[in-house]
Amino acid sequence: MASLLRTAGRARSVLPRTIPHATSRVAPIAFQRRHASAAAAAVADSSEQSFFPDEPTAPIIKTEIPGPESKKAVERLSKVFDTRSLNMMADYSRSYGNYIADLDGNVLLDVYAQIASIPVGYNNPALLLAATSPSMASAIINRPALGNFPQHDWADILESGILSVAPKGMNQVFTGQSGSDANELAYKAAFMWKRQQQRGGAHVDFSHEDISSSMNNQSPGAPDMSILSFKSGFHGRLFGSLSTTRSKPIHKIDIPAFDWPQAPFPSLKYPLEENEAENAKEEQRCLAETERLITEYHSPPAAIVVEPIQSEGGDNHATPAFFRGLRELTKKHDILFIVDEVQTGVGATGKFWAHEHWGLSTPPDMVTFSKKAQTAGYYFGNNDLRPNKPYRQFNTWMGDPARAILFRAIIQEIKRLDLVSSTAATGNYLFDGLQRLAERYPSEIHNLRGKGQGTFIAWDSPRRDEVLKKAKGQGVNIGGSGEQAVRLRPMLIFQRRHADLLLERLERIFQE
Ligand SMILES: Cc1ncc(COP(=O)(O)O)c(C=O)c1O
Repeated sequence: MASLLRTAGRARSVLPRTIPHATSRVAPIAFQRRHASAAAAAVADSSEQSFFPDEPTAPIIKTEIPGPESKKAVERLSKVFDTRSLNMMADYSRSYGNYIADLDGNVLLDVYAQIASIPVGYNNPALLLAATSPSMASAIINRPALGNFPQHDWADILESGILSVAPKGMNQVFTGQSGSDANELAYKAAFMWKRQQQRGGAHVDFSHEDISSSMNNQSPGAPDMSILSFKSGFHGRLFGSLSTTRSKPIHKIDIPAFDWPQAPFPSLKYPLEENEAENAKEEQRCLAETERLITEYHSPPAAIVVEPIQSEGGDNHATPAFFRGLRELTKKHDILFIVDEVQTGVGATGKFWAHEHWGLSTPPDMVTFSKKAQTAGYYFGNNDLRPNKPYRQFNTWMGDPARAILFRAIIQEIKRLDLVSSTAATGNYLFDGLQRLAERYPSEIHNLRGKGQGTFIAWDSPRRDEVLKKAKGQGVNIGGSGEQAVRLRPMLIFQRRHADLLLERLERIFQE
């Protein structure tokens, strides 16, 4: 810790303008980057100045993956921790910028980024500064139970961080721990809002029957209401959120679930330009069925929840018109519109929030976030979404100032380097390259999607798992989603040079 603090101390004095220097590949990278050159580079100009100038220039492959050291470490870990979902054993002290290192000296270009959760690079010096600041140390060791004992500067941390990037129309936040938690909190807010409305307003107290039946998990205290979600959607794995998750049975089997409605999500045909009429009809069909469920389902929805791009479920897109249609339906039937931006949020689609692409007439009622924010919660703007009594929406931590301070540093870094615009431009460049690859290797890339959506790009691959495995051998860490999609989730510091590398490595895989 002492040396880490010294490192950060030096970085603090030189962060804005330092020139990179050569690095050895032996010492942990976090300690090599004493002068914190990375990410200190000015905003990329047309010649694309690197955000991480002393990042590796290409992947380094020294052994098979997993190599001997990784295998040993996995074997050891397996004895005390379930490793059956393990993708790769990493060495974060040697990971840097867009590159993830393993224990055998292999260094991979990472376009999966901890399941879409690393925004500004491994061992980013600006984050190291935030992580080693006195306020962070205090937040970690004096963690407050925020509902009861918030720290004196909590408003400041929120205003200068999480709320500084609040979606349009939203000025409040309820902070939480994870994406699933954020969604469940939003669902609870929706139910309390709806019942409060049915009772006649916030001033009307609960009935005796409400109170007694709630303790027996019976209506009206535990009302027969629902959250409507979409086929193939993913909203998390806790009990309530899992009931709205519809991506894969393996997540749901053996877990009791609420009997809630599931609307069809549009299944679009690609390329979009050639299938406009058919796709519009498909979206109309889905909207009509959504409306039918809202009005006829035996357990009426208090809200609908939707991802701007269904991520875990296979990178399924719909057009802005579909989402505008959903917004109109929620207004017409007086239910809430919850947009789950856990995976799409924080810049990856070329807008800070993906729903900014839709041109909504009114903002969503709640927007949930986590992953790249490194903290979690839901934004809202309507005071009626605060329950009428304290402790109705409550838990011990109610978020975490340490994570909120980290998100603030991430936001500053995103703004300083203009990373949302950069991601939009890099995404267009990458998409064009992928389109060319798809023309050359039509059997490898089907249904390329994500045009104009930053680097949030995916395609279907008839041999997806083999492609992902071979990608490691080519020095690239890529993830999948759904049954056959290859999903790209690079960080916001992914630039043209990385896109070129990725395209080149993909071509090698297709030629194998
Ligand atoms: C859209 C979306 N919502 C919710 C979640 C759940 O987040 P967490 O795994 O942090 O609970 C995920 C996770 O992948 C997600 O992609």
